[in-house]
Amino acid sequence: MERLFDRGLPAGPIDPEDAYLDLGIPPGTGRPYTVLTMISTLDGKAVVGGKGSTWSLGTEVDHVLFQQIQRNCDAVLVGAGVMRVDDIPYPRITPAETRRRTDLGLRPRPLWIVISGSGRLSPDLRLFEADSSDTMLVTTESADPEALRALLGKTRIAAFGRQELDFGAMGRALREVHGIRRLNSLGGPILNGAMLEAGLIDELFLTLAPKIQNGRQAVTLFEGSGRPQDQLVGASLVSLYRSGDELYLRYRLAGS
Ligand SMILES: NC(=O)c1ccc[n+]([C@@H]2O[C@H](COP(=O)([O-])OP(=O)(O)OC[C@H]3O[C@@H](n4cnc5c(N)ncnc54)[C@H](OP(=O)(O)O)[C@@H]3O)[C@@H](O)[C@H]2O)c1
Repeated sequence: MERLFDRGLPAGPIDPEDAYLDLGIPPGTGRPYTVLTMISTLDGKAVVGGKGSTWSLGTEVDHVLFQQIQRNCDAVLVGAGVMRVDDIPYPRITPAETRRRTDLGLRPRPLWIVISGSGRLSPDLRLFEADSSDTMLVTTESADPEALRALLGKTRIAAFGRQELDFGAMGRALREVHGIRRLNSLGGPILNGAMLEAGLIDELFLTLAPKIQNGRQAVTLFEGSGRPQDQLVGASLVSLYRSGDELYLRYRLAGS
């Protein structure tokens, strides 16, 4: 792997395990500073198939960087759609990793937060095999009460907003009540669209996979309602790495 440029660090070959060790992610004020991690094909597709297809889009180097970004953050955020398709388990956190995180002032074990307006998540998701204090369902007051009952004891549950999720209230509670200062969102695209419009995404870590799917049914990185051409969200490039033909871009979004 090669560092092309990154905040004044020397360019040249680097082990992926060392590349994203200290991302210098700031702590955020009033809400957690939020970095989004996504991968897309050259033709801009973020979803190319069913379970496991997103993971197999990237190489082993991408997978290492993906995990290193999480290791810089107190918490991980993920949409219900991702959990329903990919059923991501809670990561294995060794005692040494807990010590490393504590030394850096991070939450000793990452808090994994799932966003679901309906609350309709299977209690059998692998994530809920983790200690219930390490996961949280974020929902609304109009969630399905029966679905929430099935999750009692499996995870923490918090509701923000009546019909629509109140991202502002969620951000304040995560920062002030739960001490989350650095948040890594894993998407997916519907959640990204809503968070972008709420002004809650500070940075985008984008892996560009040298692959083309073709086809008109492209689900892109952000599946919100869209913006007029004179109101596009700008971004500035913070760092650029490559491994073979795969590129790893870090952007800071305008307004962050
Ligand atoms: N290329 C990549 O890097 C990447 C990254 C992540 C995921 N993916 C892929 O994306 C696919 C899933 O996409 P998706 O767009 O359906 O996923 P998603 O954004 O994870 O899920 C959408 C669901 O999340 C909840 N949600 C999102 N925004 C909400 C809001 N503002 N308020 C309340 N609830 C909200 C809703 O759940 P309820 O219906 O329960 O209310 C909604 O149906 C999977 O195939 C996954 O592999 C790709």
